[in-house]
Amino acid sequence: MSETPSRRDLSDRHVLIPGGTGGVGEGAVRAYLAAGADVVVPTRTQERGDEFRALLGAAATERLHLVVHDYTSFAGAEALVATAVDRLGSVDDVVAPIGGWWWGKPLWEIDEADWQGAFVDLATTHMAVVRAALPRMTRQGAYTIVVGESAHVPVPGSGLVSMEQTALHMMHQVLTAELADAKRVFLLELGPVRTRLTEAHDPQQVTADQVGAVAAAASASTVAGQHLRLPDGRAAAEVLARLRED
Ligand SMILES: NC(=O)c1ccc[n+]([C@@H]2O[C@H](COP(=O)([O-])OP(=O)(O)OC[C@H]3O[C@@H](n4cnc5c(N)ncnc54)[C@H](OP(=O)(O)O)[C@@H]3O)[C@@H](O)[C@H]2O)c1
Repeated sequence: MSETPSRRDLSDRHVLIPGGTGGVGEGAVRAYLAAGADVVVPTRTQERGDEFRALLGAAATERLHLVVHDYTSFAGAEALVATAVDRLGSVDDVVAPIGGWWWGKPLWEIDEADWQGAFVDLATTHMAVVRAALPRMTRQGAYTIVVGESAHVPVPGSGLVSMEQTALHMMHQVLTAELADAKRVFLLELGPVRTRLTEAHDPQQVTADQVGAVAAAASASTVAGQHLRLPDGRAAAEVLARLRED
């Protein structure tokens, strides 16, 4: 069963999804498009953009704005958001499923390249997008940060992922405290997600479509920003039902 919203309830919204080309991001892109939003998906390479457009097929309507743009620096993210606001008139919502998994070494064997790639680059990208987008976002929208349970659960050999995800978890808390009620920021904390890139099929897992549906429902609702836990498919369905009741 598809978890994408059937109502075109976001048809006036402009949504930025950096990381939208990824396994989790695909679910968010599909959900917002299905809900009628204009969706801006930046990607760092033309090849990935072409692959993603082909993957979406008929879902890649004229409301999908797939742009090749490096958004991983402060200047790059600024330019991306400014261009999106110029072209579309506003950025209302942001979903940030940026970066994937890293595995390989215990912390004491980490070299500078590992640290740069799995921690600094990803944390910098999230910071760059937050500082560029949040001040320009309209009040009705939502900013949604996507992390995994590894923010709390140490996985031997993947410590840099946990450290970076924990930083994002705290980013959500700080933003919530700083914004008070001015804007809505959500943290989606995911268990293992079934995406197009997942090899094993586990029917209990939360799916990328469910993650997208929850993000879109959070945008469409008026509930305050919050930490939403989606450890598996059942929990995701419950969260979705609660958001849609709003
Ligand atoms: N997959 C899971 O099972 C799972 C479980 C729990 C949590 N999560 C979380 O969900 C988020 C997305 O995960 P995913 O599995 O969808 O990852 P993914 O398939 O690797 O996609 C990540 C996307 O992030 C973008 N990106 C921007 N800067 C990047 C960088 N420095 N390094 C790598 N990618 C970068 C890439 O887009 P471009 O190359 O097009 O620019 C890429 O499409 C992450 O925060 C992850 O921790 C995933």
